Amino acid sequence: MSSSNILVLNGSPRNGGIVAGFAAELQEAAKGAAIINAYQQDISPCTDCRYCKSHNECIIPDMNDIYDMLEQADAFVVASPVYNGGLPAPLKCIIDRLQPYYYRRVVRREPKLKPKTGFLFLCSGQHHPETAKHIEFWLNRLGTVINTQFKDTLYIGNTDNAADLSGIPEFIQMIKEATTHE
Ligand SMILES: Cc1cc2nc3c(=O)[nH]c(=O)nc-3n(C[C@H](O)[C@H](O)[C@H](O)COP(=O)(O)O)c2cc1C
Repeated sequence: MSSSNILVLNGSPRNGGIVAGFAAELQEAAKGAAIINAYQQDISPCTDCRYCKSHNECIIPDMNDIYDMLEQADAFVVASPVYNGGLPAPLKCIIDRLQPYYYRRVVRREPKLKPKTGFLFLCSGQHHPETAKHIEFWLNRLGTVINTQFKDTLYIGNTDNAADLSGIPEFIQMIKEATTHE
């Protein structure tokens, strides 16, 4: 049995936080998982310069390693806290920089990226399942651009008080099963 190439995009700046704990457990369970910590990347925001409208790359080179990892991945896991009803700025910045794939796929109709299975892990201080649904909706739209079928979401609310983390092992098992080949 071999594990797929899993790419985890971690949107939390906290080492000891819930997202970091989830990412570490996933990496332990699925040995092939690579974690990108958005806060350690120093990625520039998309400026909508539209270079990628007619070129198969971004004019700013700081995402090149991340593009390579994404293109090689079999599974893509976005794991993040909710900040002010959305994703933390450094993670949103990386996601916005996937815009070359939009022009490549939707506008220029070039071949799809390798198909990937996607998963979303979200947590927030209060209980806001509607926020998780909203983020899930936008990630599904992104999924059509990067050829990622988002399969499931685990949302953990109320982390300010008594967060229920009991769903994490089952979620990790689901990711493992979806990404392990005989
Ligand atoms: C800048 C900032 C904005 C936040 N915005 C929200 C929010 O809109 N809704 C919410 O329920 N929690 C919000 N939180 C709380 C975090 O989502 C929560 O503490 C989360 O569990 C942190 O996860 P982590 O420890 O894995 O990083 C915010 C926290 C910070 C630092």
